[in-house]
Parts: sequence; structure tokens; C-alpha cells
Amino acid sequence: MTYVVTLQSTSKEISALSAHSSVSSSSTQLTDQTGEPSPEWFTEFFTELPNEFWRRAATPEMTAADVDFVETRLGLAPGSRIIDVPCGSGRHSLALAERGHRVTGVDLSAEAIEHARRAAAATGTAVEFVLGDMREIAPSGSFDAAVCLGNSFGYLTPAQTAEFVRSLAAAVRPGGGLVLDFGATAESVLPGFTGEARVMRTGDITTEATVDYDVARSRMLSRYRFTRGDNVLDTTAVHHVYTCGHIGDLLGAAGFTDIGRHSDPDGTPYRLGAGRLLVTARRGRLPAVPSGPQQVMDTESSRS
Ligand SMILES: C[S@@+](CC[C@H](N)C(=O)[O-])C[C@H]1O[C@@H](n2cnc3c(N)ncnc32)[C@H](O)[C@@H]1O
Repeated sequence: MTYVVTLQSTSKEISALSAHSSVSSSSTQLTDQTGEPSPEWFTEFFTELPNEFWRRAATPEMTAADVDFVETRLGLAPGSRIIDVPCGSGRHSLALAERGHRVTGVDLSAEAIEHARRAAAATGTAVEFVLGDMREIAPSGSFDAAVCLGNSFGYLTPAQTAEFVRSLAAAVRPGGGLVLDFGATAESVLPGFTGEARVMRTGDITTEATVDYDVARSRMLSRYRFTRGDNVLDTTAVHHVYTCGHIGDLLGAAGFTDIGRHSDPDGTPYRLGAGRLLVTARRGRLPAVPSGPQQVMDTESSRS
């Protein structure tokens, strides 16, 4: 059976989409001959067509609800300093900046960052958009909050994800806040998992998706075809699946406390089978961690 969804999306549909979402150019090899995705698939995946699909699918209403949740749950003071990573095309960064916060958005996709910078310039919104890797966040300890939204938490390997969580803790000041948004939590995606084919449409872009669950490595392998006119992009993406408890353990080990779990920006508590996990946390004392090379992304300069 194939599901067909025409987006004007609900947040649950988008969460599921992003949990299973990926793309590449038909001329780009992101899998080896066995079909195993490259561990670096996300470095080439987020080009214009998938990014445009995501920009259309994530409505301004959904973004506003997320930003309401971030402000309310973290109790952000006016003018808070926030790191949004990965920021994609900047929807949350821009909305937070429009509410008066000082935002740094970091993303690896040049197309997305250019789009975000253009949007900021068009509206005269001051946001620092940095082309950079979520694996290389500077331990500045200077941000009042860090946000990782749009279900981007499962892209990295488990070891890299643990390091990412530690680097988020090191980027935030003591007492600062965190919001993680994850649609590939085990309690969300595994009950009733079928991997059935789905077709999603946003205007002239059609996305066909099938998902395999790799039990050996607790990953979802998402086979995607994005089509717009003659432009067809096929690829496989990876979402590592974590239990809700494991995510809590990762946050706790990195020095986060006061962990809260919701399934909707309206404050609905997270339950088994919910389509989305929104985690909130507060930075406590950092554990001792080995130091390694870090790329500095803590400039106040080059705001666009
Ligand atoms: C589904 S989009 C979500 C973006 C944004 N948070 C939102 O909600 O619209 C995922 C983004 O993650 C970015 N990304 C993937 N891997 C990354 C990495 N290692 N470092 C930085 N950004 C990365 C992609 O470039 C893409 O823009």
C-alpha cells in the first residue's frame, strides 16, 4: 500500500517526514554498491530540491509554535543569546531574532545558509548564519540556550551524537537551556512500524519514501525519490533511533539536568507512540571531558 499526503502538513506528518527524510542527486553516489549509506551522507544530501521541499513543508505556523515552546519552556529573557544547530534555511533563527533574541544559526548546507542569509537581508533581521558542522561547535559557554529542531538529531553516529550533546552543553552557559526536537525516538517510530511506501506532495515537488529498519544498528534507512519536473533525485538517508531513556542518559552524562519531555509544542506530555519528542533541559555542572580540536563559531561579527 502507498500513502499519498498532500502537504499543507500537520506537525505529525512533518515530524514523520523528517524522521524518514533524505535526498540526493541522481548523479550523486551517497551509497556504496551494497546500498549502505555513507556515514557522511548528510554532507551532500541537503541541496536545493530537498531543502525547498522542507521549506514548503514546514509552515510558518509550525515554526511559530516551536518558537513559542522554546521561549516559554526555557523562560527566555528578552535579548537571549541562542545557538540554533542545525538551522537549515533559518526558519527558527529568523523567528527567534524577530522576537528580539540574538541568534547564531549553524548549518552544513551552503544552499540553506545562503537562503537564510537572503531571508535575513530581505527582512532586515539581524542573525549570524554560519556555514559549519554540528560536530564542530565551539565550547564557548556563552549561549543562553541551544536548540536543535526539525528532527536533525539522529543523523550522526551514536558516538558523534554523544559528542554533539556534550558540545551543546559546552556552548551553553551554566543554567542555560536546551530544546531538542526528535521524531525518530524508538517509542515514536517502532510501535506499528511497517516502512510502507508514502508519497508526499508540496506544490510541484513530489517525494516518494520507503523506510527499512536496520535492527543490527537500530537505524532507519530511508529510500527517497524527490521529483520536480524532469529533476529526479534518489538517495538513502539514515536516522539513528534512540530510546527516550537513552536520550535522557546522553543529556545527563553531558551535564544537562531538569529534563522534560513533550510531544507537541502545546505542552502535551510525551507518550508511547507520539509522533515527536520535544526535550527540554537546563545546563548544570559540566563533567570533565577530554579536550579535542574545536572550530570556533562564537563570533559576534559577520551578522547578516
Ligand atoms: C530537516 S533540516 C532541519 C533544519 C532546521 N532545524 C529546521 O527545522 O528547519 C536538517 C538540516 O540539518 C543540516 N545538517 C545535517 N548534518 C549536519 C551537520 N553535520 N552539521 C550541520 N548541519 C547539518 C542539513 O544541512 C539540513 O539543513
